[in-house]
Amino acid sequence: PKHKTIKVGVLTVSDTRTPSNSDTETFDSSGHELKELINRFNVIESATVVEYDCVTDDLEKIQEKMIEWCSERKVDVLLSTGGTGFSPRDVTPEATLGIVQKLTPGISQAIMNESLKITPMAMLSRAISGIYKKTLIINLPGSVKAAKECLLVVASAIPHAVTLIK
Ligand code: MTE
Repeated sequence: PKHKTIKVGVLTVSDTRTPSNSDTETFDSSGHELKELINRFNVIESATVVEYDCVTDDLEKIQEKMIEWCSERKVDVLLSTGGTGFSPRDVTPEATLGIVQKLTPGISQAIMNESLKITPMAMLSRAISGIYKKTLIINLPGSVKAAKECLLVVASAIPHAVTLIK
């Protein structure tokens, strides 16, 4: 098997899936699905998930984790899932906007275009993407279905994107 050179972080953003905050300890199925798609089904060539965590829908907590994973090049790509919608607690795009140094609108636009072909509800995602230091950060929506669909849209472009950022 080919050497896995692209390091991916999967950050689930959810009040209800974050164990310490949840009475029910609802399983983080979207984060798990993203890990499986990358580690088992190799949807991103040469990539492996090296960091994985859940945080609540709090701007500071999201940014803290993003900054931690992006320093010392822990991850080349940071995929967030959740918190992109219209509810008052959804702040993942704002957290991301607050730290990225460059926007990568083509990535978010590609996700939106393909997603709109699947469901008009795609327009309810405010997901953004951008570059912080040497890491590409991509917001994905929160449901398993949406997170998977959106990852598959951008997966083929990620290896070249990572090469360019480095
Ligand atoms: N994108 C795709 N490809 N497929 C979907 O099913 N669901 C949408 C949207 N994007 C969806 C999608 C819905 S219903 C919502 S509310 C928004 O993502 C925001 O989701 P989030 O708040 O869980 O991040």
